[in-house]
Amino acid sequence: MFFVLKNIGYLCENNSYTFFCMKKTICGAMALLMGFVGAGAETVSSPDGNVVLDFTLTQTGEPQYAITYKGKDVIKPSRLGLKLKSGGDLTDGFTIAGVDTLTVDETWKPVWGEESQIRNHYKEMAVKLKQPSTKREMDVRFRVFDDGVGFRYEFPMQKKLSYFTVTDEVTEFAMPGDLTAWWIPGDNDTQEYEYTRSRLSKISKHYDSTVNPTYVWQGKTGPNDVQTALMLKTDDGLYVNLHEAALVDYPVMHLRLNPETLTFTSLLAPDAVGDKAHMQSDCTTPWRTVIVSDDARDILASRITLNLNEPCAIEDVSWIKPCKYVGVWWEMINRMSKWSYTNDMPNIHLDRVDYTKTKPHGKHGATNENVKRYIDFAAKYGFDAVLVEGWNIGWEDWSGKEKDEVFDFITPYPDFDLPMLRDYAKEKGVKLIMHHETSSSVRNYERRMDEAYKFMKDNGYDAVKSGYVGNIIPAGSNHYSQWTNNHYLHAIKKAADYKIMVNAHEAVRPTGLCRTWPNLIGNESARGSEYHAFGGTTPGHTAILPFTRLIGGPMDYTPGLFENDISKYNPKNKSWVNTTLANQLSLYVTMSSPLQMAADVPETYEKFIDAFQFIKDVALDWDESYYLEAEPMEYVTTARKAKGEERWFVGGTNGMEPRTATVDFSFLPKGKKFKAVIYRDGKDAHYKTNPQSYVIEEKTITSKTKLKIAEAASGGFAITITPA
Ligand code: NOJ
Ligand code: CA
Repeated sequence: MFFVLKNIGYLCENNSYTFFCMKKTICGAMALLMGFVGAGAETVSSPDGNVVLDFTLTQTGEPQYAITYKGKDVIKPSRLGLKLKSGGDLTDGFTIAGVDTLTVDETWKPVWGEESQIRNHYKEMAVKLKQPSTKREMDVRFRVFDDGVGFRYEFPMQKKLSYFTVTDEVTEFAMPGDLTAWWIPGDNDTQEYEYTRSRLSKISKHYDSTVNPTYVWQGKTGPNDVQTALMLKTDDGLYVNLHEAALVDYPVMHLRLNPETLTFTSLLAPDAVGDKAHMQSDCTTPWRTVIVSDDARDILASRITLNLNEPCAIEDVSWIKPCKYVGVWWEMINRMSKWSYTNDMPNIHLDRVDYTKTKPHGKHGATNENVKRYIDFAAKYGFDAVLVEGWNIGWEDWSGKEKDEVFDFITPYPDFDLPMLRDYAKEKGVKLIMHHETSSSVRNYERRMDEAYKFMKDNGYDAVKSGYVGNIIPAGSNHYSQWTNNHYLHAIKKAADYKIMVNAHEAVRPTGLCRTWPNLIGNESARGSEYHAFGGTTPGHTAILPFTRLIGGPMDYTPGLFENDISKYNPKNKSWVNTTLANQLSLYVTMSSPLQMAADVPETYEKFIDAFQFIKDVALDWDESYYLEAEPMEYVTTARKAKGEERWFVGGTNGMEPRTATVDFSFLPKGKKFKAVIYRDGKDAHYKTNPQSYVIEEKTITSKTKLKIAEAASGGFAITITPA
């Protein structure tokens, strides 16, 4: 046995926001046991000792792991390994060839985010496995944090395992009982579902009711399958979250429950022929993450997902900027106006259509006049940017069409004068946000991407909202396969070459990649606010998203809907926004994102200009975040300090049951007085009967203040705090 010391030195996020590099200290010993060890058990615990990870190799050489938290079972003994297309599986017949341990305690600075410094503190154990019968090697690397565990498979470069095809991952998560779960169904094409709360054993019973009314392209998997991030709670109050980090060059992991044993097994999204992943050593899988605490707030505060991602890969990040925007958007979503220009042609061939010869239907949203109206509104209220959808040709014939070539991303409609609008926006100090709906014709987008990004830069755009509605082309692939995931990352990397920020809708759900690629400033990948115009979303949705979808990164949820009655915009649309107005304000704080939209239309905001003030004021980037109250799907109360400013914001988002929040202001500096502007539900507020009832009041507070604030059904509150 001998000791090797590695990785001593300085670690630094590679960006200009980093003023100094924190020292990476290696506190623990690293032991490299060479040679044959054989079946056995290894243990590593978190720095505070609360989380314990046990690794076992059974008599048949099957690798297993188990996790406890403060002595309670979190994951019972569970199998590890992968099945391969040829050469035998990597599931058993292993011996332990060595174990490396390491302790890391470092602090890094994200380009943007919920705090300006993030501590990455864990104990690591890499178990080196050998399969003597095949002479192949596979390592399992565990990182144990105070708030959970990450682990992944690693394949060193080796002769007997150079190229290989994964047909299944057998990673299990054996549950310590019939836990309560907040879940959406397994689906290889969409995450745009409502969450269901049920016991694990009841998942299949509820499965059929988890319909997605809008999209026909959903690729549901099976009645015991759920997607991650999956939120769970034990009967004795342990909160557990299962997800993955750094999903790179690999398919998405869903989870399939065995209802008899209450054990989940990894379910990887397949490629067009049913294989899962094509690998070339040396390589790794993404990290599988288990976040755990006896306090729900710790799940929101956990930075395991970001910490397991690679440091920033972009050298100059000066062009990456948080952005508050409005858009020619909600009016199309509620069908007041249209993306398309004409009804003339049911079947568009991009290169054969002369739009100037067609008859406009008169409801086109992205007209010169209308876009100017939004630019004026943005300039008047200090917004950074205006998103314009439906500016480019092809929308007559796009949705759900399995066409290889729907959009060219560079040709505007005749009533969208791009040079004029570009100059107009510039004059007003407002940016335009590009829109690339790909209609999931991924090949077409890749063929045209350079031209499209160059076109953006030539016209002063530095952010793009991309979209992937419809079935993936090439046919047979779906939204979360290895190939499609590689596309999303390719689009982000190429955008970085052009200094373009990306907000991708319908793309794979995030896994913390925004640490490495902070130009990924937004993602949808869940049921966004648009569903309030598609028939509605049940109250509680935005009180579960922070525990699920947001574990992987920020969401372009598009809050700020002040008009509940969608028929006021479009008499044919009977949808209702199932929240109070104050609840909409709270989302800017509880669902942090460097990209925030004020989604409603200008004329509505002009009617509620006093409440709109909060959206104008709220920050997008933070020094610190404080999770004051939280229970999945019920309520979330969060406070945050604006980055580099003496301003704080608090948001309280409530679910279905009316409640009283207690806001403890002890996060404020001691001995000072502050002015708090509180936007809260009116006494009689209710999301159905009286959603626009709100009160705005001012109070003087200190760090000793504790306020009780009533939250209506699907209500909430928002607070702006400045020095008195
Ligand atoms: C669905 C997106 O979520 C939405 O924001 C967008 O407007 C439409 N697709 C059209 O691209
Ligand atoms: Ca969507």
